[in-house]
Amino acid sequence: MGDLVTAFAPGRVNLIGEHTDYNEGLALPFAITEGVTVRAEASGNRRVRVHAVDLGAHDDFELDHLERAPGWRAFARGAAAELEAAGARLVGARLRITGTVPRGSGLSSSAALEVALCLAMLGIAGVAPPDEVTLARLCSRVENEWVGARTGLLDQVASLCGEPERALRVDFRSLEVTPVPLELGDWSLVTLDSGESHAHAGKGENGYNRRRAECAEASRALGVSALRDATLEMAAELPWPLRGRAEHVISDDARVERTIAALADRDLEAVGELLDESHASLRDNFEISTDAVEATVGRLRDAGAVGARLVGGGFGGHVLGLFPPGAAPPREALSVAPGPGARLL
Ligand code: GLA
Repeated sequence: MGDLVTAFAPGRVNLIGEHTDYNEGLALPFAITEGVTVRAEASGNRRVRVHAVDLGAHDDFELDHLERAPGWRAFARGAAAELEAAGARLVGARLRITGTVPRGSGLSSSAALEVALCLAMLGIAGVAPPDEVTLARLCSRVENEWVGARTGLLDQVASLCGEPERALRVDFRSLEVTPVPLELGDWSLVTLDSGESHAHAGKGENGYNRRRAECAEASRALGVSALRDATLEMAAELPWPLRGRAEHVISDDARVERTIAALADRDLEAVGELLDESHASLRDNFEISTDAVEATVGRLRDAGAVGARLVGGGFGGHVLGLFPPGAAPPREALSVAPGPGARLL
């Protein structure tokens, strides 16, 4: 057993393929260099003390008497409970959490936190982590069962499997992850905060969870096991809003493959057009944009972006922009590039 370990897990940007993960579809995320760091120090008993440095807040629980708690405290408790339920014998520890990924804004601060907590708690207990997909599923249970967001696997897979200079083609049916070179040359990708936190605007029953339920309803109505198997012709028969939800998912799956082809051709103008198409579909078919997001898309375009779209769950959060050489993104924009996946430091 080590006495001190430090785990880092990155946030992610999703280049394209949004709200496709829980429809067994395709996405093209990459891990970014910003993320969450958890330092764990063994305490010699079964008590866990958590210090969320950026929030100035603490939590404290016994591994043998794990109770639920709301807000950020759900994460360490849920991670500990799910790891032990999966057979890992954990040890008590002092956990110190710090982060560089903006919270609650579409860059997967939640997944970064879950993954870093799991790696730190396993590391301090001297337990080898399971393979990436198994750990991604476990972290997703933390989010679904403990935090209460019915999110898919996109964020956890991206955080765990990230590679420098690569985006990841993820097939959420087979869970096959294929690295795709993301060669931008003098072009750049940035994200700009809309200033609206999706945690407040959309994670409840009227937001993300509602969209997920609508997709399930659309696939039931079409007689397919997931929207991955539906076509635009089939979707055209559905009533609104199910038609829009299905059309978005089906067309964004196709845009993932088209983006991979455009990247292979080094045709970044075409990638920009695909980002715009995806955003229009998220706004008009999936209906998860907001005035603040639209204003942010406008700012990126005014600064010269060839394509811009909301990233992540929607209802606020960050907007991704693709800039050609020579253009100057807004000063507060965060420059994003693919970095390595989660690891012990
Ligand atoms: C959030 C969820 C992911 C995914 C995206 C939308 O980030 O956590 O599982 O559904 O939204 O693509």
